[in-house]
Amino acid sequence: MAQNQEYTVDPSRLISPETTPADAEENTLRPKTLEEYIGQEKVKANLRIYLRAAQQRGEPMDHILLYGPPGLGKTTLAGIVAQEMGVQIRITSGPAIEKPGDLAALLTNLQEGDILFIDEIHRLSRQVEEVLYPALEDYALDIMIGKGPSAQSIRINLPRFTLIGATTRAGQLTGPLRDRFGILLKLEPYSPGELARIIRRSAGLLGIGITPEGALELAQCSRGTPRIANRLLKRVRDFATVQGDGTIDGDIAAAARRQMDIDALGLDELDRSLLRAVIELYGGGPVGLETLAAVLGEESVTLEDVCEPYLMQMGFLTRTPRGRCVTRLAYEHLHMPVPRRFDEDGDGTAQQSFY
Ligand code: ADE
Repeated sequence: MAQNQEYTVDPSRLISPETTPADAEENTLRPKTLEEYIGQEKVKANLRIYLRAAQQRGEPMDHILLYGPPGLGKTTLAGIVAQEMGVQIRITSGPAIEKPGDLAALLTNLQEGDILFIDEIHRLSRQVEEVLYPALEDYALDIMIGKGPSAQSIRINLPRFTLIGATTRAGQLTGPLRDRFGILLKLEPYSPGELARIIRRSAGLLGIGITPEGALELAQCSRGTPRIANRLLKRVRDFATVQGDGTIDGDIAAAARRQMDIDALGLDELDRSLLRAVIELYGGGPVGLETLAAVLGEESVTLEDVCEPYLMQMGFLTRTPRGRCVTRLAYEHLHMPVPRRFDEDGDGTAQQSFY
């Protein structure tokens, strides 16, 4: 369908919060201590208490669940907990643990006090989860030997360890798994001020010159996410090197992000295409997610996990039982004529006018 063409966008997105191989330098930029870690003040304040209490009692920490959108520093925080406790951390992910035996191998190789970090923990299979329960509760592994009537269960004791689970979808965790975490910590998007500090810290570590205005310009289009901020910093450095004197100031930062089709609020071509599609093809909504995904030639999970959280956070999009709707702000941001029906609305959603 020719009409679909203009809504189809290259999926390799600079502003995606997921990790890509190009983020390899992320490890050099990760803060190693709570002191160095910028933002998430509430999480840090609570963690400090839990860390100190565990240290004073000479016990491993309770199991911790970190949840929140991608790119906000869940792996970084797990590394910091390990560093502060002076223990080893083993890093894996839900999809990487395919069989109960894979988990058993990981658990039996831990030392007393070690941390096991499981990213995307909502993606563990049910069989693997079953093995995890006694490990979390009793530091024990129940293994079945043999099959049929002669099968026997033997129990292997494990060292006391701390599980740190991370998820972008806390709602998808099973109840029994969620209940086994003593500490739940929710990460929130960072403010532009915090992101500007992170950008200046990263620039210092990478030897990049940046002015406060340059840092703020990048911070404002980083969608509340340090991973995006650090990625933008590296790309904009290239523009500063080639088109300026190597230092990122406000003008270079703004020109570079425009050249990369990222607007002042951090929306890229896919975000804008999504909003335009809702407006131009569906009169502002409501329209179902699957329909939008088909029109845009994108996976619905990409729209749901990457575009929509930020568009909703910015007040451009609402989710209703009947589908997605754009708001008055979306029309204004795209410089499109605002339909008359918004003049009467209270909250500016297109959906209101259909009732
Ligand atoms: N780099 C990425 N996230 C960071 C944070 N929260 N603080 C400092 N540096 C960071």
